[in-house]
Amino acid sequence: MESYQPIQWVEGRLRLLDQRRLPAEVVYVDYDNDRDVGPAIRDMVVRGAPAIGITAAYGMALAAQLPAETVEELRARLTEAGDRLRQARPTAVNLSWAIDRILNRVAAADPQEVDALRDLVLAEADAIYELEERSNYQIGLNALPLVPQGARIVHHCNTGPLATGAYGTALRVIVAAHEAGKQVHAYVDETRPRLQGARLTAWELKELGVPHTVIVDGAAAHVMRRIGVNLCVVGCDRVAANGDTANKIGTYQLALAARAHGVPFYVAGPTSSIDMALASGDLIEIEERPAEEVTHIQGCPITPEGTSVANIAFDVTPAAYITAIITERGIVYPPFEENLARMMHERDTAAL
Ligand code: MRU
Repeated sequence: MESYQPIQWVEGRLRLLDQRRLPAEVVYVDYDNDRDVGPAIRDMVVRGAPAIGITAAYGMALAAQLPAETVEELRARLTEAGDRLRQARPTAVNLSWAIDRILNRVAAADPQEVDALRDLVLAEADAIYELEERSNYQIGLNALPLVPQGARIVHHCNTGPLATGAYGTALRVIVAAHEAGKQVHAYVDETRPRLQGARLTAWELKELGVPHTVIVDGAAAHVMRRIGVNLCVVGCDRVAANGDTANKIGTYQLALAARAHGVPFYVAGPTSSIDMALASGDLIEIEERPAEEVTHIQGCPITPEGTSVANIAFDVTPAAYITAIITERGIVYPPFEENLARMMHERDTAAL
């Protein structure tokens, strides 16, 4: 594992590595009140779909520490906390997936004591974290046959340990290939406006010793044409039942460029990011964020005062542009509607 740990549970508190301050500073922030966890997710102290889910789960563990006389009272407090946490960010399905998993566990259990219910919520948060960790690792293994020796790979946003609390997803595909001696080179989209690629992915790849080059988002098509790219791999915030995939803004145009140049375009993510309740990507809510993220860089204005801005944080890549979806349960190829349904309805594999 890495030298840094983005999400920790330490003596009854949630500790987050403040991703807003990377790469300049490695600073951890402690939370002991569940009401502060939603704002931390919204302000992107922690970000990345699986990391958001794990953080929300520990937010529920904080809520479980609230004073309560009876099991029923604590159950009601947990439902309220879940409703608050859900509002933090709309696009990544992992947020509500993790909260629902905790609430379902709470509803199914029949503890006689308030403390037993508290223990159960924390155990479920730990189980969610452990599941994501195993999934991350397996995604890297499953993807190995897709990565040729010496591959040049374009990656968008940040999908490494910071985004998942563990090994990463799309970035894990690159790191696993590197560890397997495939001598890969990553082209890292800088990912405007929050620069998750330039600030976070480049930092993680440097820590891991993986050769990489940061490019501006608009350069990917040129790199495909002039330098040559073997594959693109990106993460996902929500995959609809038909394979349409919401991910960081700019993913869709990367997929279009990949199609134009005959480059395979892979989505990597855990099954916790697949939302079988949504028939298509058109139904995915797309987060819009404050204009200042676009109009300012590190506090300095870069547009004329009063400029109109649409800070659309995610886009949806239609399934038709996706070569395959790499999950911990295996690689899913088109037709996605049929093959995702088959995979999601199978029981969790005993190996995971
Ligand atoms: O706004 P962010 O930084 O939370 O967006 C993150 C992404 O779009 C990631 O690609 C996605 O969450 C997958 S992380 C493994």
